[in-house]
Amino acid sequence: MKFWVISMDAFRSIEWTDGKLRLLDQRQLPIKTTYRDYISYIEVASAIRSMVVRGAPAIGVTAAFGLALAAQQSEALTLAAFLADLQAAGEHLMAARPTAVNLSWAVSHLLALAADDVAQKTVALEGLDESASEVSEGEAIARLKQTLLSEAQALHQADIEICQQLGTHAQALIPDAATVIHHCNTGALAAVDYGTAIGIIRVAHEQGKQIHAFLDETRPRLQGASLSAYEMQAFGIPHTVIVDGASGYVMRTRKIDACLVGCDRVAANGDVANKIGTYNLAVVARAHNVPFYVACPTSTLDMTLASGDEIEIEERAATEITHVKGQQITPDGTPVFNPAFDITPAEYVNAIVTEKGIVYPPYQENLEKLMR
Ligand code: MRU
Repeated sequence: MKFWVISMDAFRSIEWTDGKLRLLDQRQLPIKTTYRDYISYIEVASAIRSMVVRGAPAIGVTAAFGLALAAQQSEALTLAAFLADLQAAGEHLMAARPTAVNLSWAVSHLLALAADDVAQKTVALEGLDESASEVSEGEAIARLKQTLLSEAQALHQADIEICQQLGTHAQALIPDAATVIHHCNTGALAAVDYGTAIGIIRVAHEQGKQIHAFLDETRPRLQGASLSAYEMQAFGIPHTVIVDGASGYVMRTRKIDACLVGCDRVAANGDVANKIGTYNLAVVARAHNVPFYVACPTSTLDMTLASGDEIEIEERAATEITHVKGQQITPDGTPVFNPAFDITPAEYVNAIVTEKGIVYPPYQENLEKLMR
C-alpha cells in the first residue's frame, strides 16, 4: 500500500525537538499557527487539560513524552526514589483528562517498562558493596531516562503506522463514491498523523475515491468547524461544514453512505465514549439506515470496563457554553451542564475499525478475540 505524502510539516501536532516537546496550539487554529515548547511534565499536563493538544491518540503520545520529561527532571539518586518520582508524575498526567483511555494507557505502559527495568537492575545490584552500588544505580537511572524517551518516540512513530493501517482496513466499508458525516476532529491533529475517522477519509481520497465529508461543527469547542475543516482544506478533500443539529436533515435529504467517528474509550461490550453529540448522530443514523462506524487504535479499547456506564465522562467549564470567543451569550447566572463526551450504546455501532482489522457485533465476543 502506497501512501501519498502530503506535507503535514505545516501543522505537525506533536514533535520532540532539541530536548523539548513541541505542541501545536490547537486552540488558536485555524487563525494562528503557534507552537509551544515544554520541558516539564507539569506544563505538559496543563497543556492536555487546557486542550493545547487534544484527541485521544494525541494526548496519549503527549503524556508519554510528559513522563519522559518527568524522568529527565528527576534528581533521584536511587532507583526506588526515581520510580517514586515517575509514579507521582504519571498520576498527575493521568488526572489531566479522564475519558480518553489512551492517556492512562500510554502512561501505564511507560511506568510498567520502568518498573520492570528497575526490578531487573535491583537484582543485578544485590551483592555489590555500597559505593559500587551507588555508582551503578546512578548509571542505571541515566540509562532508564534514555529508555523512556526512546519509548515515547517509538509510540509517536507507531501512532502514524497504526492510523495508516486502520485507514486501509476501513476501505472495505467505503464505496468508490461516498458521502459521509463526521463528528469532532479525529485527524492528523488528533493523533500524530492521519488520525482515525478522518484517516479513513484521507486514505479513501488518496486511493482516488470520490469522497465528500459533511463535518459536524461540534459545539461547544467547534473542533469540526475549526480543525477538521482546516485539515480537509490542507489535503484537498471535498467537505462541507454543518451545524450539529443539521445531520438529521442531511441524512433525510441526501444520500449518506456512512457516519464516521473516532472515540475516546470503548468498553468490553462495545459501548463507545466519544465527543458529545456522537450518541445523537448514531441514533439519527439508525433511524435513516445509515451505517455508523467507529474508528480507533486498539489502545482505545478498555476491556476492564464491562459497559459504557462505567466510563468516566469529563465535564468541562460552563464558559465553553455561556461564552463564544470571550463574548457572553447566555443571561448572567444561567445554569449549564457541559459533559464533553457521551456514550453510544453498542447496538447503534455497525462496526469498530482498528489497526488489527474491522470488528463487527457481537462486540463482547469479537473484541475479546481481537485482543487475544
Ligand atoms: O475533547 P477532544 O477534542 O479531545 O475530543 C476528541 C474526540 O472526541 C475524538 O473524536 C476522539 O478523541 C478520537 S480522536 C482520533
